[in-house]
Amino acid sequence: MSRLAWASLVVVLAAVGLGVYWNYDGYDPESLRGATVVITGCSTGIGEEMAYQYARLGAKILITARRENRLKEVVAKAKSLGAQEAHYVAGDMGKAEDCERTIQTAKEKFGRLDYLVLNHVGSSFKSIKQKFLEGKSWDEDPDVDYFVDFLNINLVSYVRLASLALPLLKESKGHLVVVSSVSGKFPQNKLTYYSCAKFGLDGFFSSLRVELMKAQQDVSVTLAVLDLIATPAVIDIFQTVPDGEKTLKGAAPVDETAKAIIRGGATRAREIYYPFHVWPITKLISLLPQLSEYYDLAK
Ligand SMILES: NC(=O)c1ccc[n+]([C@@H]2O[C@H](COP(=O)([O-])OP(=O)(O)OC[C@H]3O[C@@H](n4cnc5c(N)ncnc54)[C@H](OP(=O)(O)O)[C@@H]3O)[C@@H](O)[C@H]2O)c1
Repeated sequence: MSRLAWASLVVVLAAVGLGVYWNYDGYDPESLRGATVVITGCSTGIGEEMAYQYARLGAKILITARRENRLKEVVAKAKSLGAQEAHYVAGDMGKAEDCERTIQTAKEKFGRLDYLVLNHVGSSFKSIKQKFLEGKSWDEDPDVDYFVDFLNINLVSYVRLASLALPLLKESKGHLVVVSSVSGKFPQNKLTYYSCAKFGLDGFFSSLRVELMKAQQDVSVTLAVLDLIATPAVIDIFQTVPDGEKTLKGAAPVDETAKAIIRGGATRAREIYYPFHVWPITKLISLLPQLSEYYDLAK
């Protein structure tokens, strides 16, 4: 065999080896049959899709968001797809009492909790969509009231829900799944408030993971680091911004994203990166932070 042929063989074998290494995580979809799952932010987008994927796997789900009419529709579809049980709590996760009601309802309906999937994103008086469309920097619009409200919904409520659920998760040796973003791994133009919430989630939940481990509590904490995903809201926004169609072509499909998050939670992964290109980009930017100035989602 020529040197070229040997070299090609080595490259192919190395690629196969790497592929097996990255893909073998012991995932058993059957482990989700009958599992009890609370998912937040399920009236649309990634949360809605996760509800359907968990349903297909035969889980018992309890979903939340503010829009009750949408939650009823999602519950009906989840049941038709195979959910062993499907319930909803309509509520605002920015309110402590609605967070309490969510976890209390899970306790009453299921008697145990295997998964808490924290996914919702929003703010009560200024939507993230407006921010994308207006494209204002913090310096042009330093709205501290909005910032406080945004952090309450997108950071504090995650901590509150997790704290309420931890006693149940400790009993079941369960799984805590936190949906984050590349904006929580490196800074991005015109996303100060969003980046702050997502960096905060990484800081809190990565520390919590260490604390639980030191206390020998078998509750896994999975952080899902996502790039742009083609949810209905993202499609709406980018259809109206210049060059948006081009950006949308690079957005990952919502069903594959939901599956990747569910798999990461089930295999107790510390972090998952979706789509995969986010992983090398994030690692490279942590070595060379100035590169983040070239990776700009919200131009
Ligand atoms: N889509 C992306 O490109 C992308 C990229 C990176 C990371 N992510 C992350 O992925 C997660 C899901 O994003 P998504 O794009 O699927 O979002 P989305 O389509 O905007 O859906 C957000 C969900 O959160 C709910 N929600 C908003 N405010 C709420 C509140 N105050 N209380 C309770 N529920 C509330 C919404 O329902 P109601 O309006 O009915 O309350 C909705 O169900 C988020 O954590 C997001 O940061 C998304």
